[in-house]
Amino acid sequence: MLMLVDFLFNSQTEQHFADVVLSEEFLNLGIEQVCSLISSDKLTISSEEKVFEAVIAWVNHDKDVRQEFMARLMEHVRLPLLPREYLVQRVEEEALVKNSSACKDYLIEAMKYHLLPTEQRILMKSVRTRLRTPMNLPKLMVVVGGQAPKAIRSVECYDFKEERWHQVAELPSRRCRAGMVYMAGLVFAVGGFNGSLRVRTVDSYDPVKDQWTSVANMRDRRSTLGAAVLNGLLYAVGGFDGSTGLSSVEAYNIKSNEWFHVAPMNTRRSSVGVGVVGGLLYAVGGYDGASRQCLSTVECYNATTNEWTYIAEMSTRRSGAGVGVLNNLLYAVGGHDGPLVRKSVEVYDPTTNAWRQVADMNMCRRNAGVCAVNGLLYVVGGDDGSCNLASVEYYNPTTDKWTVVSSCMSTGRSYAGVTVIDKPL
Ligand SMILES: *[C@@H]1O[C@H](CO)[C@@H](O)[C@H](O)[C@H]1NC(C)=O
Ligand SMILES: *[C@@H]1O[C@H](CO)[C@@H](O)[C@H](O)[C@H]1NC(C)=O
Repeated sequence: MLMLVDFLFNSQTEQHFADVVLSEEFLNLGIEQVCSLISSDKLTISSEEKVFEAVIAWVNHDKDVRQEFMARLMEHVRLPLLPREYLVQRVEEEALVKNSSACKDYLIEAMKYHLLPTEQRILMKSVRTRLRTPMNLPKLMVVVGGQAPKAIRSVECYDFKEERWHQVAELPSRRCRAGMVYMAGLVFAVGGFNGSLRVRTVDSYDPVKDQWTSVANMRDRRSTLGAAVLNGLLYAVGGFDGSTGLSSVEAYNIKSNEWFHVAPMNTRRSSVGVGVVGGLLYAVGGYDGASRQCLSTVECYNATTNEWTYIAEMSTRRSGAGVGVLNNLLYAVGGHDGPLVRKSVEVYDPTTNAWRQVADMNMCRRNAGVCAVNGLLYVVGGDDGSCNLASVEYYNPTTDKWTVVSSCMSTGRSYAGVTVIDKPL
């Protein structure tokens, strides 16, 4: 049992929960042990389906004796987190579920969850709607497209544990200056520039299948936009449509596969960076085509009131800054003001509404990608005013130091999309 627990909770393991489930050791556990395993928030699994299948396999291993435990087990399976199709095609069809009215109640709870609008789901107080939060699940950093020096299709991943890069499936078409987020297990590459046009197209990448597919187009063409996830919606903020900087903002609902406009920003911002802290979406700096200025202003969006409000300005103008969030602080990294490319970095604390300077990067960078992982802030590529960079450096807030990662990308790229994903198991 100890070994198995160690195995299931050991984040560094390369093995698959499914392998464990098929092991004799798992199938021979007692009911209390199985309940204690599957009720844990820290369980390292790629999807809740694995838990459901584990329960069914365990019961079927000694069905006559164990089927009476179905309700007790299903209490810990987070059915609401499963896709609708799986609930209908697999869970509802399972005889062990059909034979238990308590299990059918859990299925109804899950269906209800899927029928409710997002805001009301949050009000459902059930342990089964809570996401599992495995510790240190292995992560990959995905770098998508970019300029090298023209728009490219290449996508590469950095494995933090192996400390090396590998190529994955290329984008369906060339794309740089896109927005990039990771949402619902998928990477979304939003808008950008394909080498001739600013586009409204959106491609999504499934890391498990290593496959790209297109989803619904945005309403507006946008390159150099900001993209972020707030309350389960994907937001595309500002950018440039080929002739003018944009103040408009739109949101994507993955369930309905639809984009809709929300309140525009107070300022037109192309080359804008965005981040979410404390349930608010921040738009940092950028370039205002109307005033022809790089911006030091910052504004934040409250989805409840659908309003943008200015907050404290940065100490300096930054267009094409890398923006990331670490420990509930918003970082603005590099960027430029006219021809001057910056290596300076500042950080915003929403609780004090104030920016402060932290250590400079090793290199000047604008149009770099930024992401936070394992308590560090990574800055990827960009350009220093003359060259596209293949290097990556990270900031450690506890030491206030930047360190260059020893392994570079295969190619120098600026305006690439960067995000962190769970490593497919
Ligand atoms: C860019 O997108 C436009 C519109 O979708 C398309 O016609 C054009 O061929 C694309 N250009 C490149 C270089 O892919
Ligand atoms: C958004 O605004 C409403 C109304 O002022 C406020 O109650 C709420 O706390 C704000 N949301 C966040 C995340 O600050």
